[in-house]
Amino acid sequence: MKDTRILKATKENFELAKQEILQGDVVAIPTETVYGLAANAYDEAAIQKIFEAKGRPQDNPLIVHIADLQMLHDVVSEVPETALKLAKAFWGGPLTMILPKNDRIPDAVTAGLDTVGVRMPSHPAAREFIRTCGVPLAAPSANVSGKPSPTTAEHVYYDLHGKINTIIDGGTCEVGVESTVVKVGEDSVEILRPGKISINDFLKVVSTVTIDDGVFTKLDDDRPVASPGMKYQHYSPNANVIMVEGSLSDFCRYVSKSANEKTAVLVFDGEESLFDIPCVTYGRRNDSVMQANRLFDALREIDRREDIQTVFARVPKQEGVGLAVYNRLLRACGFEIVSMEKAVIVGLTGHTGAGKTTVGELFRKDSDFGIVDCDIVSRTVITQPDVKARLVEYFGEEMLLKDGQIDRKALGKRIFANEEDRIFLNSVMFPPITVQINKEVQQLRQKGYHLIVLDAPTLFESGANIICDTIVSVLAPAEIRQERIMSRDNMTAQDALNRMNAQKDDEFYRSRSEFVIENADSPEQLNAQVERIITVLKEKINGN
Ligand code: TXA
Ligand code: MG
Repeated sequence: MKDTRILKATKENFELAKQEILQGDVVAIPTETVYGLAANAYDEAAIQKIFEAKGRPQDNPLIVHIADLQMLHDVVSEVPETALKLAKAFWGGPLTMILPKNDRIPDAVTAGLDTVGVRMPSHPAAREFIRTCGVPLAAPSANVSGKPSPTTAEHVYYDLHGKINTIIDGGTCEVGVESTVVKVGEDSVEILRPGKISINDFLKVVSTVTIDDGVFTKLDDDRPVASPGMKYQHYSPNANVIMVEGSLSDFCRYVSKSANEKTAVLVFDGEESLFDIPCVTYGRRNDSVMQANRLFDALREIDRREDIQTVFARVPKQEGVGLAVYNRLLRACGFEIVSMEKAVIVGLTGHTGAGKTTVGELFRKDSDFGIVDCDIVSRTVITQPDVKARLVEYFGEEMLLKDGQIDRKALGKRIFANEEDRIFLNSVMFPPITVQINKEVQQLRQKGYHLIVLDAPTLFESGANIICDTIVSVLAPAEIRQERIMSRDNMTAQDALNRMNAQKDDEFYRSRSEFVIENADSPEQLNAQVERIITVLKEKINGN
């Protein structure tokens, strides 16, 4: 067993680590993509140590890292013009080019191929270290073969401690997924492995970009492959990963149908409130850069949690670096993707007194719609012992009725007159409400409903809007609403106003809704507006 040390990325430490490289040892180094396990690219025996430490199959070639263009000529036998253009555009940076190798590069580096993958990293510590060593460094990702690539020095330590002497700590890798690997043609590139440098980036330099089959599909063992690394299952946590295609609500339905006590989900930031099973997030839904940065740590996080056997993962967008994120997840799940049948979850909300209840009734009359009444959900949640206990602790025993339940009327009065109290109540109520709403949606989906309405006065406040595929808001002029609330709830003008003032303004709803119902005229007008929306929603399901 080696006593693995982690060194800061300083000049003195580079000198120490250089000695190891020149003695024929391996050193783990930071790059802007992932950590690499580096050895002198000219030293065949040192290269063998990389394969041993990682447990890497011998037929999977390594990438050679260079500090400057001068070094490129020490590694390849020719530099085509297109390669030079690409180097100018993207080096230093996360691009690996497959080029004809020269004789100084041993077969062990290229797994016997007559080409070599070359990359000039942008990470200052990587560049400085290669320059200090004075030789090109062959380096695959510094993980145990088959595991997610390391994006921190701690990840490397976790995988390789005892097997290597030295890790240079350069902080968290900025990109988070490995470099784009390309075969260079004449005014064209073929992407063998997607990365941060994307199709659109390449199109600024060459006129044709193609993507190798291995990016999307599982390659047969006996088929010749463009990039040998792409044929292995990769990036896998110990648990079995399955990607579930579809909207968030589809995903939830699949999870509720298929989860057991050893299941976790891998979802986007903010979606964790929907699940009451272990949850790992990997960035915001529309932020591929962030997803790339977080994915590998998220996959490792799954292993850090005990006893998880299956992970259902949300499918990332495939644009830009998103294609790399998708490709890594595909490999993590061994190309297993399931798709869900289409459904539309409709959030129905709006101002109190605006006529939401009437609109809800119109939806209820149509038997194609399943309805989740979020008022009823909140009435159920408030009886949950843990919720009740927290409310009594805060609001006092005087909020309890004789039967031991919370006095909702008194509570309502108090929170609509006091913002701080309202915020507290919401913080206690909304998380379990969202979980319960989601459960009821899934039950309706299982009963065969494809159209589900969440009738939810506090749709946005509770966060339940995130599972909605579309939102319908009901609005009405303030005077009309005040009248309605006073007569409906038997309230004073002031109480009604308090209630109205606690809500968001029209603009808030308008900007977040696909459909806005203006309920200022006759019931017939209201009916007609709802009918129109129902027609459009049905068309969504039928794929028109
Ligand atoms: O960002 C990266 O590229 C990181 C950091 C450390 O630089 N390195 C990395 O190396 O990801 P590795 O070994 O994990 O992946 C190298 C990939 C493999 O898929 C391999 O098959 C491919 O590059 N490759 C290397 N040489 C090749 C060649 N001559 N022809 C085709 N594919 C090659
Ligand atoms: Mg690797």
